[in-house]
Amino acid sequence: MQKIVILTGAGISAESGLGTFRDEGGLWAQHRIEDVATPEGFARDPALVHGFYNARRVQAAKARPNAAHAALARLQRDWPGEVIIVTQNVDGLHEAGGAEDVIHMHGVLAGALCAACGHRWPAPEEMAVGEPCPACNGPTARPDVVWFGEMPYRMDEIYDHLAGAAIFAAIGTSGQVYPAAAFVHEAIAAGARTVELNLDPSDTVSSFDETRFGPATQTVPAWVTELLGQSE
Ligand code: OAD
Repeated sequence: MQKIVILTGAGISAESGLGTFRDEGGLWAQHRIEDVATPEGFARDPALVHGFYNARRVQAAKARPNAAHAALARLQRDWPGEVIIVTQNVDGLHEAGGAEDVIHMHGVLAGALCAACGHRWPAPEEMAVGEPCPACNGPTARPDVVWFGEMPYRMDEIYDHLAGAAIFAAIGTSGQVYPAAAFVHEAIAAGARTVELNLDPSDTVSSFDETRFGPATQTVPAWVTELLGQSE
């Protein structure tokens, strides 16, 4: 039973209408990372940060999963071994497309987190500055997303999965953000076959055994169909 571990990034949701970070005109061309994606930025101007994530939450709630999300859900359903989806995305499109047990290493827009006591609860569509935590009542609610300088979630679990991977795929990610960009090396160390599916070559492209370039809605369903064909 060969285990497949898949890492996804913003590129898989691009054709659902959600902008990526580093493509031309992407989120990081419009906003400074230091302002909206660091704990220091939040301490300085929480209203600005809530405004950024509120807008993204509204947009993500309207977005629909695309053929790439659906294909990965099909792979999870029909592959004879385990298929683990690890995503850097904070949208819920993998789940909306039918995937299960998705590991959101950078958190979720749909979640709120208390910066004081660590309690988590579903975020309202619009979070406001000073919103009280339902557990400790502190005015310390923040979006449950991982910011630069913070440790991504569930890393031990992810490394365990990578250590057992027979196939590792990176889909729609630029390979510029660590630790996710180094997962391919963990997978290689585990003896996995590695494949990159992306619109353009990522920064880590030379590490992969195989590359497939094009829009995710085309490359991912084709790759999944091939894999499932081989498993029959
Ligand atoms: P990036 O914006 O860095 O990269 C998006 C990648 O998707 C690029 O390599 C594009 O070529 C590719 N792409 C664009 N459109 C595509 C399409 N239709 N089909 C397939 N690929 C496409 O996004 P990420 O790599 O996800 O973290 O960024 C990683 C992290 O950096 C994010 O999780 C976020 C960001 O800062 C935090 O905020 C902590």
